[in-house]
Amino acid sequence: MKLNFSFSIAIDLGTANTLAAVPGKGIIFDEPTVVARLKKRPGVKPKPIAFGGKAKKMIGREPQTIEVVAPLKNGVIADFDAAVAFLAYLLDIVTQLPSRWPRLLKPQAIIGVPSGATEVEKRAVRAAAEQAGLGRVYLVEELILAALGAGLAIEKAVGHLIFDLGAGVTEMGVISLGGLVLQRCLQLGGQRMDQAIIDFVRLKYGLLIGRIMAEKVKINLGSVLPTGEERKMRLPGRDLETGLPREVEISEAEIREAISPLIQEMITNLTELIEETPPELTLDIARRGIVLTGGGAQLRGMEPLIAETTKMPVWTAKQPREVVVRGGVKLWQNRDQLKSLAT
Ligand SMILES: Nc1ncnc2c1ncn2[C@@H]1O[C@H](COP(=O)(O)OP(=O)(O)OP(=O)(O)O)[C@@H](O)[C@H]1O
Ligand SMILES: [Mg+2]
Repeated sequence: MKLNFSFSIAIDLGTANTLAAVPGKGIIFDEPTVVARLKKRPGVKPKPIAFGGKAKKMIGREPQTIEVVAPLKNGVIADFDAAVAFLAYLLDIVTQLPSRWPRLLKPQAIIGVPSGATEVEKRAVRAAAEQAGLGRVYLVEELILAALGAGLAIEKAVGHLIFDLGAGVTEMGVISLGGLVLQRCLQLGGQRMDQAIIDFVRLKYGLLIGRIMAEKVKINLGSVLPTGEERKMRLPGRDLETGLPREVEISEAEIREAISPLIQEMITNLTELIEETPPELTLDIARRGIVLTGGGAQLRGMEPLIAETTKMPVWTAKQPREVVVRGGVKLWQNRDQLKSLAT
């Protein structure tokens, strides 16, 4: 019998949020992918001082000596040192858990990568994971993990369409017989929506708002179709002319207007993807429905909007933010499938 007792983790290293799970223990790490560090000075390496939620709270409030950085941009590593530091922090938390596996072995990890990632970008994830202290690393496409985590039987000869709306990327793909038949990865997601809200408020009201506030408004009022409620929210910011604090009242319809070009771009890409899909698979998808995942799937009206434009049923995965990491845990249970899926 082959002894294979190293401790296994599944990691969804996302642009906005990173989740990690261990088979049998569930999700044990769920934090914003953010690192705060002391700025580099001549001869001194930048030193991390806070991670995750604690670091995110510093955004927009940092003094000159501290920088708050996002290790990832558009789903891939943009700041290598920050990514290593963040993964080392994750590993620290994960390995503090009581475990029956010996600590001497480095944990092996399944890590999700966007389907649009280049070889160089994938190598960066592998290298960062290794430097952070992880052992063997299996990279698997996030769309496949999302499909597994959403409970789809991806190895069957049946087509599924999965649409993942994240913070930095929006990915959509058709899966059949355990692999991607075709896919698109757009470099736009929730963060571009936040920026669109910032730009909208600046142009319409001459008011400058921060990124955290923009995200809050999007989550509170965001919708892609009229909801019939037309809620409003008071939005504090800084007046661009006077430099003083000022508030405006913003409505659901205004937020919808601000993000609508981005939603349009997603829908256009989705309809093009469906047009390119072989007819047998289209019939499967029309029967089973399009599956929405990712934090952005929670935008009000996504299901009816996509159903209306594609004329297909649409459903949102349970806990849409967690499907990638849950898919990773499932994959640890099937080594053969893991070997065939690792890229
Ligand atoms: N209720 C909501 N309505 C709209 N957007 C939301 C909601 N909840 C979360 N989001 C957005 O979802 C995004 C985070 O989703 P998720 O955690 O799936 O992204 P990620 O995996 O970190 O990013 P990526 O997959 O692009 O690398 C953020 O932009 C966040 O603002
Ligand atoms: Mg994601």
